[in-house]
Amino acid sequence: MQDNFDIDIFVREEIKGLVPYNPESRPEMIKMDANENPFLFPGDIQKKIYELIDSRAFTRYPDALAGALVREISGCYGIAPDQVMVGNGSDELILNLMLAFGAGNRVVIAVPTFSMYAIHARIAGGVITEVPRDQNFDLAVEALAREGAGAGLLVICSPNNPSGNSATTEQMVAILEACRCPVVVDQAYLEFGGVDFLPLLAKHNNLVILRTFSKAFGLAGLRVGYLFAHPGILHYLCKVKQPFNLNNFSQTAALVVLRNRGVFTRQVAQIGAEKDKLYKALREMPGVRVYPSDANYLLFAVEAPANRVFEGLLAEKILVRNFSDPLLSEYLRVSVGTPAENEIFLRGLRKVIDTLGEKK
Ligand SMILES: Cc1ncc(COP(=O)(O)O)c(C=O)c1O
Repeated sequence: MQDNFDIDIFVREEIKGLVPYNPESRPEMIKMDANENPFLFPGDIQKKIYELIDSRAFTRYPDALAGALVREISGCYGIAPDQVMVGNGSDELILNLMLAFGAGNRVVIAVPTFSMYAIHARIAGGVITEVPRDQNFDLAVEALAREGAGAGLLVICSPNNPSGNSATTEQMVAILEACRCPVVVDQAYLEFGGVDFLPLLAKHNNLVILRTFSKAFGLAGLRVGYLFAHPGILHYLCKVKQPFNLNNFSQTAALVVLRNRGVFTRQVAQIGAEKDKLYKALREMPGVRVYPSDANYLLFAVEAPANRVFEGLLAEKILVRNFSDPLLSEYLRVSVGTPAENEIFLRGLRKVIDTLGEKK
């Protein structure tokens, strides 16, 4: 055995400090932690996808630029194909944005928010500036405009994960006009509510809109994200992307899903109705403070320590999201489930809060 092996000396400090993103797979749990579409994937659409997959889909590399899917997205949203790019989940597109524009630059992030922006900024060698949202999680527009003015990339999530609130058009325009760098607005949950910033794209060359098939469209397992941006931005993103980033099966599945999107629009309406019920029930629950949400999840604060509520729910076989972020230490986030799952969650949460109350 070689005894001068010291792998640490080759690794940047930012990489050493990262905690691997290893969400546990817990199939025995009611899964309300990752904001996926809770319904079964429609069988008839699944069949249509399989019908389009032939032997070449296995043996040959996929279309590197996913032309057919890009054209479908382009037609569906009325944006030119040279302003559309797809990725292996929007996670991959976030990394590509960081590699192209964040590396060696300042990356401004409105926090608290989705953790992958900071993780990918660090991996890419960007220097992060966090701009805190206010106590209602609203954007600090002036601070973002000030910090964004000298940055390489600025990232906003709307509706924001995990708080569920959306930015307004006025806020986005103010930030876009103050920044020369690309301004990314992650609209992963747009289908559920909030302001659509697509109309701003024609006028603001620095706007990047991120979207995904993982949430409303039920394809989290197949990893398909996409973005809209000026061709000048895509020019650089294409240089840093993996050559065959989106596999044949996923390209076909996303295409079929878009052609059958009415089914998912109906599911989104159902999820919205369930969210309203869940919100009302949480608002009436003692010891719980819930925030309104434009997305398919609800953020709530608990009087009892959030970790203990989380553990109590786990014992009831219910998995919600708790956070390591100190800005979110008193909060939990629950994804809207099926009607049956939501009932079980509410019953479980009541029981856990009552039990913790008795132990006080
Ligand atoms: C705000 C936000 N953006 C992006 C993603 C990642 O989506 P994808 O599955 O497309 O990588 C998530 C997933 O939870 C998210 O919450």
